[in-house]
Amino acid sequence: ALRGTFVHSPVFGEVQVLQDTVCIVSGKRSGGKILALIPGADADSKMEELGLQAAVHQIPEGRLMCPGFIDTHVHAPQYSYAGTATDRPLMQWLDHYTFPREAQMQDLKEAKAHYNKLVERLISNGTTTALVFGSLHLEPTKLLADILHQAGMRAYVGKVCMDRNSKNYYVQSTEQNLQDTEAFVEHIRGLNTVLVHPVITPRFVPCCTPALLQGLGAIAQRSICHVQSHISESLDNDAFVAQLHPEVGGRDAQLYERAGLLTQRTVMAHGVTLTDAELRLLAERGTALAHCPLSNFYFADIPLDVLRCLAAGVKVGLGTDVAGGYSPSMLSAMRSAVLASKAVRMLHIDAARRQAGCSNPCTAQEPVRTLPAEEGSAAVGGHQESQHPSSLSGSRAEAALQLPEPAGGSAAAVKAAAARRTLSYQEAFWLATMGGAQTLGLQDQLGSFEVGKDFDALMIDASSGTTFDIFSADSLLDTFEKFVNLGDDRCIRAVWVQGGLLSWQ
Ligand code: GUN
Ligand code: FE
Repeated sequence: ALRGTFVHSPVFGEVQVLQDTVCIVSGKRSGGKILALIPGADADSKMEELGLQAAVHQIPEGRLMCPGFIDTHVHAPQYSYAGTATDRPLMQWLDHYTFPREAQMQDLKEAKAHYNKLVERLISNGTTTALVFGSLHLEPTKLLADILHQAGMRAYVGKVCMDRNSKNYYVQSTEQNLQDTEAFVEHIRGLNTVLVHPVITPRFVPCCTPALLQGLGAIAQRSICHVQSHISESLDNDAFVAQLHPEVGGRDAQLYERAGLLTQRTVMAHGVTLTDAELRLLAERGTALAHCPLSNFYFADIPLDVLRCLAAGVKVGLGTDVAGGYSPSMLSAMRSAVLASKAVRMLHIDAARRQAGCSNPCTAQEPVRTLPAEEGSAAVGGHQESQHPSSLSGSRAEAALQLPEPAGGSAAAVKAAAARRTLSYQEAFWLATMGGAQTLGLQDQLGSFEVGKDFDALMIDASSGTTFDIFSADSLLDTFEKFVNLGDDRCIRAVWVQGGLLSWQ
């Protein structure tokens, strides 16, 4: 039993703080589940009433418990070059950096050292569950699964499948891909664990023939496996697929749909160019999206409008996409998700302004604008960059409205764009926990502190002063927000999966 402050987001947009709470967890052998969550003051009598006996460990002052993070998209063999190779568009990046590095995993000694480092890094950053791409080859990917298993992480792992458009040293026949996938599923099932699971993993449409997709769809159905891949991730992906598959209008979603790969156990990364109809199809199939905002800034051309996807009823989790995203930290993914959502709004404002015929507000051509009185300022010169209307919170819509009404344009459209809602830090935290749980169909098992759920949790030290400082005016929520925005692995002092302690510092 642990007694202290628990922070979680069981509902989208809401962060709940459970102060002075006792959380009782069953032993690892009995499933590491949360048996009770009791207000501290009633703990003794309640425990007696429930017939529970446990030593109660007090969580030290200044520390908070939060659910473990769920990384819904990470490429294990790419970790060695995370933080480099940031200079090329997707297709060149794959050819130039990715395929040679992934191929190196065939050296099992190399693979072991590499994967051990990655798994240690994921755990120290608070990732308790990960949906992981291995490499093309069977043996190194089996080793990856073994390492995740030994480390005690919760993981969904796949052997990457590719039968076209790759280098000749990094491609397999359709048949070999299918055989090795079946052997991989068998290997993981043989580990006899509830924590590590096989995932059917076509890399993406440009590297997979329809025959391979079809075969993988059949395996996924037959062996009741999760599926992971990339969908509509960039304009160069879409252009390539348009060339390859005019028969389906060049759309990834149609190819995956035909192969039976859009299932309720499927998690597709990116989806930045998905149409409304395609989002509806994903929602109907119960297929989830892994939102990988940092990697999108590099490859996607367009930021994902994550609120649009959620509004369409699509399940969404967050992914680091190492090494397309250079950081293996889910805190970094949360921050990037908030920024990406702000970029979506900027694009809408820009488009509406262009349509309305407005010139760039940072040039001197526009007339002086008056800010609303509550901003506490008088007239502001339109050419002062620091006073750009979109940088003044609370007054965006009004400031946008005061733009000159251009001939044939609509100031109302600009106002509407400026008033668009963006993702909050609370919502980004939800995506990293409950959202991730939903993408895997584990919403009743993971993602928040509730009786009956598995205890996958982090102990956060919010008082060490290593990465941020707490002041007397800060509430517990402020402290938690500082952790999300300013914290890093130094603040994550302990990590549990299914009630078992994986790391402690
Ligand atoms: N699309 C196909 N393969 C990859 C990959 O390894 N990383 C990313 N970000 N996109 C991909
Ligand atoms: Fe990826």
